[in-house]
This record gives sequence, structure tokens and C-alpha cells, in this order.
Amino acid sequence: MYDYLLHQKIKSALLKFRVGKEEDDLSFYSRLIANASTIKSLYDELYRQHPAAVPQFDLLIETLTSAHKKRKPALKKTDAIKAEKGNWFLSNEITGMSLYVDQFCGNLTNLGEKLDYFDTLGVNFLHLMPLFESPAGESDGGYAVADFRKINPRFGTLDDLIVVQQKMSTAGMYLMTDIVLNHTSRLQEWAMKAKEGDKHYQDYFYMFDDRTMPDIFEQTMPDIFPETAAGNFTYVPECHKWVMTVFHNYQWDLNFSNPAVLVEMLDIVLFYANLGVDVLRIDAPAFIWKEPGTTCQNLPKAHTLLRLLKQCVQVASPGMALLGEAIVAPKEIMQYFGTGNFVAKECDFAYNATQMALQWDALATGDTRVMLAAQHELLKKPYGTSWLTYTRCHDDIGLGYDDYMIQQAGFDPYQHRKFLKDFYSGNTPGSTATGALFSVNPKTQDARISGTLASLCGLEKAIANNNENEISTAINRIIVMQAASFFIGGLPMLFYGDEVGYTNDYSYLSNPAKSYDNRWMHRPIIDWDKNSKAEVEGTIEHRIFSATQQMISLRKKLPVLADYSNLTWLSPYNIHVAGFLRQVEDNRLFCFFNFKNEVMYVDWQVVKEKGNPPVMLYDHWNKKDYIVGRDKEYLIVEPYSFCLLEAVK
Ligand code: GLC
Repeated sequence: MYDYLLHQKIKSALLKFRVGKEEDDLSFYSRLIANASTIKSLYDELYRQHPAAVPQFDLLIETLTSAHKKRKPALKKTDAIKAEKGNWFLSNEITGMSLYVDQFCGNLTNLGEKLDYFDTLGVNFLHLMPLFESPAGESDGGYAVADFRKINPRFGTLDDLIVVQQKMSTAGMYLMTDIVLNHTSRLQEWAMKAKEGDKHYQDYFYMFDDRTMPDIFEQTMPDIFPETAAGNFTYVPECHKWVMTVFHNYQWDLNFSNPAVLVEMLDIVLFYANLGVDVLRIDAPAFIWKEPGTTCQNLPKAHTLLRLLKQCVQVASPGMALLGEAIVAPKEIMQYFGTGNFVAKECDFAYNATQMALQWDALATGDTRVMLAAQHELLKKPYGTSWLTYTRCHDDIGLGYDDYMIQQAGFDPYQHRKFLKDFYSGNTPGSTATGALFSVNPKTQDARISGTLASLCGLEKAIANNNENEISTAINRIIVMQAASFFIGGLPMLFYGDEVGYTNDYSYLSNPAKSYDNRWMHRPIIDWDKNSKAEVEGTIEHRIFSATQQMISLRKKLPVLADYSNLTWLSPYNIHVAGFLRQVEDNRLFCFFNFKNEVMYVDWQVVKEKGNPPVMLYDHWNKKDYIVGRDKEYLIVEPYSFCLLEAVK
């Protein structure tokens, strides 16, 4: 229905910011008009009842208009190029790396000097871990933000970031940064004002005079960090109130049921967009809406809020894609891509955390059946959206897939998870892994896993044992793990250090700001002497680096690996080998990954079940031709190895 009042509002906002004649203004204007009704109805769904709904909506429209005005011509040009490409982020030519600027190279200026390193590896997308000001002693790796617009001086300045972004863009690289929407540091300006008793800012948080509401919330809210930050509320003596703190007690949850919070945060989202961010990682989106009587996670209104943000970003900075960092159960994750009329109109990306954890499951057990049992859920990802695929990131590994998936594979869920936790924390005889349990819940014995890719794959123990065979096996495990995440579809995101096999770094234990959080063991401080060994043939660093490099370059060469939702799982003729087909038209790539330390045999029948049986296959990884054998003849896959077999036409 035509909404006269809404369009009058838009007109006055356009007039106020003198948006009108330029070509890009017209594009903005068209986008705004096209999306305005949806924005309004999503907004109304959340805020219709709020006393400040109307003035805050006016502000929202002005925020969009003013962000457009501030967007640099170069970024508007990139927006147009990306729009023309359509779904630019599904490409097989993008490979990412996630890194802490300080731990990687000190500061942003140095990062600008390291672009050659990424180029050599083939990485053309950087996720710079939180850059904005965060108090040194209570920063949660930068996820407790004290100033959303000021770069942490340890990293440099906003101008330094702009310089890096420009250098990256000139080099054809993409930038991802975080927006920490769910909470602020207790030392952030709004929190400080709230503490001083300012009612306006107290409404930016969930603050209560006594324990009545906190106790009601606590009945249904789980603990996120049960060991180090039990409970979801913290007493603030300065104002004699309880504030909601779902994560650490120094991270105050923002109250998005107040539209002023939405508009403030939208302004920050667009501020980041205007710095040239290509993908914005929305931290912890599962938590952004709270209601008593619920877990306060994955609530329908959290999705409404994300859709609203997506629509706004589409209007003001259409070149910026959104990644929802929801590390949730397989069924829940699909919701973040949007449902109903909003399919593929919520988050463009989500972490494929389920697949990541399932790879670790398969590696520990040498059995891929649980992985397979989860795929019918993961395959529901809508066309036009994509995964971030990974083996490790800065966080812990959670075993959050459903019990029925474990049962379907014939295991007991409790015992199976216990085995995995014991295996990766090195508590099982014969375990090759060196990791640790993170956030053990004393009530449920639930726990996640910390440790670097290399240590969890056995490299730390192998080096300690000075055993060349074990070292080779560990390297093979690392490579097969990376390969499985590189070729499954989505944007592969390396974690810095993994490309040269960093093992756990225990120095965090002597730093009181970090020692309470063992995730720091897998966030290494880069030693560039070690990294330079990547150039020396035969070194561990070289073996891992060059394999990673080759996988990246292979992926870039094969368009069938772009994420066109073109993944089909193959019959599990051998439970130790995961196999899937990537196909676009008559281009077919059969991919097999052996998760066991034994040679495996896969019946050739497997490649004959999908379309015309191929006669010849070319293995892009092992650079080998195969003539497809008869049934009951076998493809041989070496221990912890993989092959990428293209059907020769
Ligand atoms: C996200 C981050 C994690 C952080 C949490 C709270 O999950 O990845 O590192 O601790 O949010 O901000």
C-alpha cells in the first residue's frame, strides 16, 4: 500500500541532506524508496508500542540519508561494481584470514607492509579482529568495546585503518571487521553515563533496581562462561542497580527494545561501512533480543532486528555484506539466512560451525557418519547466501550439533561428546591432540575445546617426541582438515598462524588479563622468523604453507567451487571417507577426504550415481588421471589425504 506519510518523511530527509541530482543519489533514492515500506514494517514490528517510536524512526531515515552523503565516491563505485557482479561474495576466488593486528604484526601501519605475505599465500580477504578501543585489562579480545569510533591506540588510528583499507582495495583485497552489537564495555560512554545515574542512558541497557527481574531472567537463561563469569547480571554499586551481562561482567548488554539503541548502532554500522568494510561480522547476533521466560537466544525479534539492519545496509551501503556470528544448532543457523519473505535477506554469511565441529569429530573418531547425519540440515542454506568455512578461529570449538545426529551414527551422545572432549584435551590414552577444555559447566559437564589447529592435529606432541613419522601424520591431518573446509562451499577463513603450523602458545598464562581465558592458547604472537621458514623447503612451516597455498590457488582456478549451493553428498561406501560432489552444469568435481590414518578403498560405484557415469577423472590435487574402474574396484585414498576428481568431458 502506498504510504504517503512515510514518503513525506523520506522527502524531508532527502531535502535536509540535499540528496537529489547526482547519479549515485538517484541510485540511493531508488533503493530507499524500494526498501522503505519493508524497513518501516520491520521497525514497527519491534517498536510500534514504544513511546519514542516515531521520532526515532525519523532519525533512522536521516541516519541512512546522511550515511549515503558521507559515503566516498570510490566506495559508491565499488558498490556499483559489486551490484553488477551480483552475489560477489559467493566467488571461489576469495580466501580469507582472520588475525589480531597486534599479535600478527604490531599495528595497522605494519599490516599495510605485510600485504605481500597474503599475496604469496593467496589470501585476499582479511578479518581484522576487533580494532576499536577496548580496556586493556578487560577486553575479551576486543569484544568489550569502549569506543565504537576510535581505534585502539595500540593498533594505530582511524587514518591508519583507512590507509590499510585503501592499500588492500588497490591490491584487490577485501576487508572484514566486527560490529559488537550485543554489548559494550562497562567503560563505554553510555555505560559510564548510566552508572552516573543518567536515566536516558540507563535505558540503553537492561538495568534493574533489585533482583526481581534478574531472578526471573536467570530461570531460563543459560550461562555462557560458567567458569569465569557465572550468571547473567552484575551489580553496579555506583548506581545501585543490576545490569544484564550475558558474557563477562564487564560487557553490558545493550537494550535493543529501545529504538534509540537501534538507531545509534545503525549509525555505527554505517560508519564502518563508510570506512570501506566489505563484510561486517555481526558479533553474537543470537543474543540481541531478550525476553523473560526465554533463553534470550535466537528469538524471533533478533531476526527482525537483523533483517531491519540488512535492509538499511542495502540502502545506504549496498556493497557491504553481513556475516552473522551465530554459533548455534544446525536448525537454528538456517534462520539467520532469513525465512519466509526474507529468505536470503537477513545475513549473507554465517559460520558453518556445525561442519567445523563435525570435521573435528570425524578426525578424532576416523568416522564420518555423524558428519553425514547433519548434512540434510546444512544443505538447506538458501541460494545467494554463503558459509564462512573454517577449521579454527579465535574461539573455542563447541560440539553443538544435535544428539540425534550422533545417535543416527550409532553412538551414545553423552559418551561420544565425552570421548571427543577427552580426546582433544589429551585426556585419553593414545590421544595425539594437545588442547584444553573451555568453559566447563559444572552442572551439565558441557564444555568446549581450545587449542590451535596444529596442536589439536597432533603436531605439538609429535614435535615434543621428535618423531618424524608423527610429524608427517600431523601435517597430513592439518592439510586434510583445511582441505575439507576449503572445498565444501563458502568463503574459507584461515586463522592466522595455522598456515605455518603454530602450536599452542602458553604465554597467556602469565598475563592476568588473559590467564582466565584459555582461548588465548590458540591466538599466537607471530614470530616472523618462524614464518619466514615457510620459504625453506622441507621445514614444517614450508610443508604446511605450500600445501595451503596450493589449495587456495586450486580453488581459484575451479569455478565449480564457488558457492552456488551446488553441493551433493555422495553415498558413504566407506565410513572413514567423506565424499561430496560440486557441480555446475556438466562440470563435476568429486571430492573425497580420508579422515583415518589408514589407506581407504572407495568403490568406484560412488561416482556413477550422480548423472552420466564418468569414464575418466583428473585429480587436481594429486595431479593424476584415473580411469573409472568397474564396481567392486576401488579408488584408493591415502591416510589423511584427499582428492579432487574432475569428470573429464
Ligand atoms: C563472540 C566472539 C567471542 C566473544 C563473544 C562476546 O562470540 O567471537 O570471542 O567472547 O562474542 O563478545
